[in-house]
Amino acid sequence: MDATPNTASAKLTVGDKSWDLPVRQGTIGPDVMDISKLYGQTGMFTYDPGFTSTASCESQITYIDGDEGVLLYRGYPIEQLAENGDFLETCYLLLYGELPTAAQKADFDLSVTRHTMVHDQMNRFFTGFRRDAHPMAIMVACVGALSAFYHDSTDISDPQQRLIASIRMIAKMPTLAAMAYKYHIGQPFVYPKNDLDYSSNFLNMCFAVPCEEYKVSPTLSKALDKIFILHADHEQNASTSTVRLAGSSGANPFACIAAGIACLWGPAHGGANEAALKMLSEIGHPERIPEFVNRAKDKNDPFRLMGFGHRVYKNYDPRAKIMQQTCHEVLSELGIKDDPLLDVAVELERVALHDDYFIEKKLYPNIDFYSGITLKAMGFPTAMFTVLFALARTVGWIGQWKEMIEDPGQRIGRPRQLYTGATRRDYVDMAKRK
Ligand code: SDX
Repeated sequence: MDATPNTASAKLTVGDKSWDLPVRQGTIGPDVMDISKLYGQTGMFTYDPGFTSTASCESQITYIDGDEGVLLYRGYPIEQLAENGDFLETCYLLLYGELPTAAQKADFDLSVTRHTMVHDQMNRFFTGFRRDAHPMAIMVACVGALSAFYHDSTDISDPQQRLIASIRMIAKMPTLAAMAYKYHIGQPFVYPKNDLDYSSNFLNMCFAVPCEEYKVSPTLSKALDKIFILHADHEQNASTSTVRLAGSSGANPFACIAAGIACLWGPAHGGANEAALKMLSEIGHPERIPEFVNRAKDKNDPFRLMGFGHRVYKNYDPRAKIMQQTCHEVLSELGIKDDPLLDVAVELERVALHDDYFIEKKLYPNIDFYSGITLKAMGFPTAMFTVLFALARTVGWIGQWKEMIEDPGQRIGRPRQLYTGATRRDYVDMAKRK
């Protein structure tokens, strides 16, 4: 892939020396200064911990405009995809770059459906965990273990094996996630059913029990499908960058996705939906909101409003708006009139959006702010929230991994550092140490 070649350049001057850095333009979004040869030319590194100003790669999958609150998957606005399509259509789009025709969609759905089962020996893998193991710990372990079962899709140099590994990941994540949930609550595993659509299948595997018929609510299934679309991909976020870096060494796709799951678990990232719900529960009542808002503003207090703020969005996260609408749809479908957590969330959002601190720092609710309330209402325990995020983000991870592997310019990622440690010194015998 190559962005539009440019003749523009940026001039870097250090002392009496200067260098021209090529400037490359994408189709939309900020231009980049190509510094790939900077060290060779200048003997200096750039320094950007947290990568606030660094483009790690070229990609054609997802575009975010943080100032305008825009999110595009392969150019299509997230609002339109969430409104008009289903999650597997979004998966096809993210993987192949175009919306599927009816025939392509039918083939893709069937292919995913036919890969939803996991090797039955995976069941024995679960029994090694305590019942109160966090489901994310189980997911990291089980997804990494998939490479032990699927030797026919770990040769990343083979396009066919890359494709089957992608389909397997998308297909098996709901099954493993449901198994993690069932194991957590001590109920028997429920096998996937090929006559159910993707999200209905997942709800059935989570909430069906052998003793009686379980009827999937079409409204809840559609709402969950929409939630999966919102979480599918998000440019070069921390977990996607983890998957890319792991993949750059040639590691198999299952191991790379396991690395992404591990990174997503953090409360600053995908773990924020679990943390946001715990925060709303801790606040408990709208009258306690000022106390928590003041804590969030207090530099000496590590407390932050979970579900607020974003590295890229300095406007409303477009996904949060859709998430809020979906939250209301789910609560009304379930006949939940007054959810105290929702009351706290709505009031907290109102207070924060009118507070100078949040306005000045451009802190808005992000996707994690309303997702926890929605998932809790659907019957998922808090510990499962990030598992559902990982389930949905798997297509983004695998799509970005595939794009990286198929980029002819791909090399192992190996950042450098600014070293401020001890200069060279000789070993001191124990007897001489003070
Ligand atoms: C996701 O990257 C992605 O795309 C991620 C994601 C995806 O789809 O993959 O969108 C999913 O991870 C969403 C974010 C979920 N995390 C949370 O909701 C946790 C709470 N938010 C923060 O921890 C924080 O906002 C981050 C981690 C999301 C962003 O951190 P940044 O970009 O490093 O911003 P920062 O920490 O430098 O904050 C800038 C300022 C700081 O104040 P100053 O030091 O400048 O005085 O804003 C303050 C922060 O103290 N701040 C907050 C705050 N978030 C930032 N203050 C109070 N509450 C908050 N939530």
